Amino acid sequence: MEPEVLAFRDVTKRYPLAAGAEVEALRGVSLDVPAGRAVALIGRSGSGKSTFLHLAAGIDAPTRGAVRLMGRDLGQLSDRERTLARRDGVGLVFQFFHLLPHLTVLDNVLVPALIGGGDLAALRARAGALLARVGLSGRLAQPAQQLSGGEMQRVALCRALLRRPRLLLADEPTGNLDEATGQVVMELLLGLAREEGSALVYVTHSRELAALADETWRLHSGLLERA
Ligand SMILES: Nc1ncnc2c1ncn2[C@@H]1O[C@H](COP(=O)(O)OP(=O)(O)O)[C@@H](O)[C@H]1O
Ligand SMILES: [Mg+2]
Repeated sequence: MEPEVLAFRDVTKRYPLAAGAEVEALRGVSLDVPAGRAVALIGRSGSGKSTFLHLAAGIDAPTRGAVRLMGRDLGQLSDRERTLARRDGVGLVFQFFHLLPHLTVLDNVLVPALIGGGDLAALRARAGALLARVGLSGRLAQPAQQLSGGEMQRVALCRALLRRPRLLLADEPTGNLDEATGQVVMELLLGLAREEGSALVYVTHSRELAALADETWRLHSGLLERA
């Protein structure tokens, strides 16, 4: 049987604060995300949503419990192995896009290829196809800084998908967009994830956008509950 794309097992995350105090950002969180599933994560500011995504991507490590990506316990991997697991298995989308402003639209999508290597001609063709899919085929040579916010996030979606990750993680991907633009971007994100067969976990503050997922979970002071 295929392993879950992402599995949290009784995960606790504590951050040290000054003078020996600490904050418990996640408290005994367990969740399975099977292949192709779209999961919305909601919860107030400070409830642990970004911490959850950082642990899922192997950017940070749990204090207790295990995070498994494609069946591999990230805590059992070396730093190098964990970096490769993230690079090949995970696509990240951020609230503030994180494009390189002076690079063209096409080159922004190709940044993961420049870092990770691979068949550049094939990746270039794939980047072009993804950009056409999100309606930006006329903009390939334009510097990213000239785009609107919604266009920038569409470029970021293409960049996240370039290497065919099995898991997409999106932290408030519409948080910097107006409502109508956010709806369009969210529908593109969900549509692309479905077409590509990528599992998706996205954080949102919008009930309407959360309702587009296959399932919704709420973090409340580090505790995960079904919403
Ligand atoms: N690097 C860190 N160091 C110390 N505390 C942190 C750190 N990152 C997050 N926190 C704390 O952990 C809790 C959860 O934060 P976060 O996961 O960013 O919440 P959310 O994304 O839901 O707003 C908050 O109390 C936050 O202040
Ligand atoms: Mg956050």
